[in-house]
Amino acid sequence: MNYTEQFQSIIERRRSNRKFDPNVIVPDDVIKRSLERAILSPNSSNMQLWEFYIVKSEEKKKKFVSYCLNQSAAYTAQQFVVFVTRQDLWRKRAKWNIERIKESADGNPENLLIKRGLDYYGKLMPITYFNDWLGISGCIRWLICTVVGLFRPMMRFGGKADQRVMVHKSCALAAQTFMLSIAAEDFDTCPMEGFDKVRVKRELNLPRNAEINMIIAVGKGTDKGIWGKRFRVPYQEVVFTV
Ligand SMILES: Cc1cc2nc3c(=O)[nH]c(=O)nc-3n(C[C@H](O)[C@H](O)[C@H](O)COP(=O)(O)O)c2cc1C
Repeated sequence: MNYTEQFQSIIERRRSNRKFDPNVIVPDDVIKRSLERAILSPNSSNMQLWEFYIVKSEEKKKKFVSYCLNQSAAYTAQQFVVFVTRQDLWRKRAKWNIERIKESADGNPENLLIKRGLDYYGKLMPITYFNDWLGISGCIRWLICTVVGLFRPMMRFGGKADQRVMVHKSCALAAQTFMLSIAAEDFDTCPMEGFDKVRVKRELNLPRNAEINMIIAVGKGTDKGIWGKRFRVPYQEVVFTV
């Protein structure tokens, strides 16, 4: 099979499976490799404002089944991976990127690309991610975008909702890479948003600004776990050439 055929077969192989075989263990290596691939996903400004929690002990799994509202993908899952957004880590990640850029400067800190990179993480990221309790910084960002946007194209970016969308986009891309990887490893997944986010956050000891993007149940799927044919709205109804 060439790359295109392999990719097509992985896309077709991945289905949301809601009944996993209790007798087939998912090797830890499969989860690890898939998370390593997930981490290579594209993400906003390479800020990597995400974390991934593997749930595999029987005691924790039992709790997560109830947090996932006892849905069948959850109570038959071998393991869960919780995809978490960590907007609150922006300072740490910006600093991390600055360190990597400095390392790559290779004794040439005057290089234009290096300078741009340092400005990007040292100046633009604080403007993008800073928040104050009253939301004043968000209003100022919104106002600047709106006024400047009257005269030239501008990335419209303002308050907390925009920041949340940004981190969730990146995290969901990692989740998709993870699911495709698990399919390529001949195992199955079911992404879930049907869960109690308050209890999940508390169980994982996450801070206030962290959010649960989705929980992915993993196991060896069964035929009974596929609830029907794969329906999609026709191509012409959702794809437009403008
Ligand atoms: C963000 C997200 C949340 C989902 N939540 C659930 C869920 O809580 N329970 C469930 O059984 N399926 C859930 N699904 C699976 C979808 O129902 C499924 O992807 C969709 O029906 C298409 O089927 P397919 O994945 O087999 O192609 C979720 C999917 C996504 C992307």
